[in-house]
Amino acid sequence: MAWKTLDDMDLGGKRVLVRVDINVPMDNGVVTDATRIERIVPTIKDILAAGGSPILLAHFGRPKGKPVPEMSLKPLVPALEAAFGVAVTFIERPSHDEIFGLPQDAVVLIENTRFSPMEEANDPQMSGFLSTLGDIYCNDAFSAAHRAHASTAGVAELMPACAGRLMQAELSALEGALATPQRPVVAVVGGAKVSSKLELLGNLVAKVDHLVIGGGMANTFLAAQGINVGKSLCEHDMTDTALEILEKAKAANCEVILPTDIVVSAEFKAGAANETVAADACPEDKMILDAGPATVAKIASVFDGAKTLIWNGPLGAFEIEPFNAATDAAAAKAAELSKAGKLISVAGGGDTVAALNGADAAKDFTYISTAGGAFLEWMEGKTLPGVAALDQ
Ligand code: 3PG
Ligand code: MG
Repeated sequence: MAWKTLDDMDLGGKRVLVRVDINVPMDNGVVTDATRIERIVPTIKDILAAGGSPILLAHFGRPKGKPVPEMSLKPLVPALEAAFGVAVTFIERPSHDEIFGLPQDAVVLIENTRFSPMEEANDPQMSGFLSTLGDIYCNDAFSAAHRAHASTAGVAELMPACAGRLMQAELSALEGALATPQRPVVAVVGGAKVSSKLELLGNLVAKVDHLVIGGGMANTFLAAQGINVGKSLCEHDMTDTALEILEKAKAANCEVILPTDIVVSAEFKAGAANETVAADACPEDKMILDAGPATVAKIASVFDGAKTLIWNGPLGAFEIEPFNAATDAAAAKAAELSKAGKLISVAGGGDTVAALNGADAAKDFTYISTAGGAFLEWMEGKTLPGVAALDQ
């Protein structure tokens, strides 16, 4: 695929509709994690520097096609102004008169695109109207690019379109990690359920050299091999699927790394009494909450031999101590190798980034994606409508 960037556009004196993802965590009207806002700053600054005026299109939450006051974008204005260093004009209902009457150097934020049912329906009436508000469309919302909505996909077909700086960075990091990677490549996939990451695992075994499976989904793989997992989270109805994935991996020469030792406890609670046992020795009345040190040592040695790492999902119940130990140790190892320039590491997904931040490892990763669902779909090998629409 080939898409244009801001460098290919003549931005001087133009109104640029910029689709951004500022769906950030908020508490009582205050932004609690501004990462997604900080990451769009280069795009806004570059447009302003070239003499263009950015008009931001964005969603917040899932208001389901009608105005929901708690999901207004207005409370985000101070955080945007702080990040951009310029005033931001908020417009609730855009009209041509209002938009065309603004000064050349204005930065505009339009109210939550999802307040209209036409957004998620990708209704041509909405994309048509949006396209009349500006001269150029710039998509900087990789993390919303898995949605085929009016402001992410529809409008891109109607105007000269390009990728923003964050979109460029996300695409090149992901391409580097999975499409044209330096080998060996290792993928870490964790999380609760095999069923939610089935397509991901199926796609990855054909593309990577080592696949580390962690979290609840590892239990399903252990159980599929006839191992008793006690009270652990486990999808027993996924046995055949898990075995098929292992077969597919074998055929593709992909080494699958499952826990060889496990940390078990009688309850899912922070600080719960626990012990480390062999992977096939989970007591009947206990549950697996983390991978053990031997498994972590194996993962570390795989990281040592790898050139590229792509990570989605924690290895254990990282949200309750001490069951974050395996995730933290593996994250620290990846961070150390990345910092030393020995490993290209790319991670994405809300839980994953929270886990890596908890381990203080994220800052040394080569690239941390702002995307959750879109990161997953990209790893699954799917075409993202918002990215496809830029291919003109
Ligand atoms: C996200 O936060 O994952 C993106 O903003 C997409 O939001 P959505 O899952 O509601 O489409
Ligand atoms: Mg989502």
